[in-house]
Amino acid sequence: MAQPKEAWENQQRVWKHVFLCLMGVMTLLMEAVWACPSLCRCSNMTVDCSDNGLLSLPANLPSNTKTLLLLNNKLSLLPPWAFSNLSSLENLDLSNNFLDNLPSSLFRQLGNLSELILRNNSITSLDKGLLQSCAGLHRLDLSINGLSQVPLGVFDGLQEVTWLSLADNRLHALERATFEPLSNLQHLLLRGNPWECDCNLRDFKHWLEWFLYRGGNIDGVECTLPKDLRGRDIRRVPVEMFNYCLQLEDENGSVVSGGVVVGGPPCNRGEEPVIIVSPEIPPTVAVVQTSDCARQKYRPVSVRRAIGTVIIAGVVCGIVCIMMVVAAAYGCIYASLMAKYQRELKKRQPLMGDGDGEGDQEEKQISSVA
Ligand SMILES: *[C@@H]1O[C@H](CO)[C@@H](O)[C@H](O)[C@H]1NC(C)=O
Ligand SMILES: *[C@@H]1O[C@H](CO)[C@@H](O)[C@H](O)[C@H]1NC(C)=O
Ligand SMILES: *[C@@H]1O[C@H](CO)[C@@H](O)[C@H](O)[C@H]1NC(C)=O
Ligand SMILES: *[C@@H]1O[C@H](CO)[C@@H](O)[C@H](O)[C@H]1NC(C)=O
Ligand SMILES: *[C@@H]1O[C@H](CO)[C@@H](O)[C@H](O)[C@H]1NC(C)=O
Repeated sequence: MAQPKEAWENQQRVWKHVFLCLMGVMTLLMEAVWACPSLCRCSNMTVDCSDNGLLSLPANLPSNTKTLLLLNNKLSLLPPWAFSNLSSLENLDLSNNFLDNLPSSLFRQLGNLSELILRNNSITSLDKGLLQSCAGLHRLDLSINGLSQVPLGVFDGLQEVTWLSLADNRLHALERATFEPLSNLQHLLLRGNPWECDCNLRDFKHWLEWFLYRGGNIDGVECTLPKDLRGRDIRRVPVEMFNYCLQLEDENGSVVSGGVVVGGPPCNRGEEPVIIVSPEIPPTVAVVQTSDCARQKYRPVSVRRAIGTVIIAGVVCGIVCIMMVVAAAYGCIYASLMAKYQRELKKRQPLMGDGDGEGDQEEKQISSVA
């Protein structure tokens, strides 16, 4: 009876050890997963590494982090694999750093990303493929950077984005086609950019009217150029102001002005202008959406310069012509006066020889006598 009891107790002891061992391994695993990088504060899948003067990303960020806060650091260059182990990340805030140009594959692993805040950095250009894996993005903040343009295609596939800020950059024009993929956009912030309200912005204005028509909100698009529209909000500039852009473009997308055709090489395949009838525009008025190549051909500045050259050349030619006419007239009058004078001389002295030389001699004699 004692033997089976002893065996039973041994077995129990073994199982106890196995259990404790398993618990230890589990705890170690949990710690490996949950280890909080020094300088950061971790809680509830949120890792807050803000206000640390960090020059690079902390190592060993917990791989199940959902929110990563890196505000007010000194990050300037991130390697392409910086966030590669954080596939659960949903919110990433990199505000108030010195980030310059971001590697195109930086966010490639972040398929769960919903909010990306890049406010107040030094980003001057965006790679077209930067956000291509972030199909679930809802909120994108690119305000207070140095962007002078937004590349075509950078927002492709971002159907979920509802809030987008490009405020306080150096944008002067935007392409309509860049914004068309953002089919669920509700708030667009564009304030604080030096918008040039010329023909380059016409297509974007049409997109903007459609955006407002479907209930979108926008903070403001204040023109800085041309001078007579300075300070005006493009929403209150009537579409008719842009009608001259259409008149400038002939059916082939070339610019015609006063008989001067500023053309370019023929458009590449698949870049024909597209006719779009927008809901807010009467069906009789079709908006010709010009393709890139057509828009490149439209150069109002060079047209203006060409007209200026023609005017200056005309004025110079006119002055030269007038001077030539005056010189010719002077020559004619002088010649006729001389002829008349000669004739009168001959009439006065009919007997004094035939040659001019003799006449001259006679004159000299007469004058010396006198
Ligand atoms: C932890 O985060 C979840 C959402 O991710 C939230 O619902 C919950 O309230 C948070 N808990 C604490 C204690 O902050
Ligand atoms: C990502 O995880 C792998 C192992 O899963 C590890 O070897 C690598 O160092 C991690 N990379 C970063 C940047 O943490
Ligand atoms: C932008 O960030 C810098 C430091 O990174 C900070 O000094 C400045 O106050 C920030 N500006 C705004 C408008 O947040
Ligand atoms: C989203 O996060 C879950 C874990 O929370 C992960 O299993 C999944 O792979 C992630 N999705 C993508 C597309 O990375
Ligand atoms: C426009 O292109 C068509 C051929 O595509 C050509 O027949 C026509 O002459 C062109 N018009 C002008 C004004 O260049």
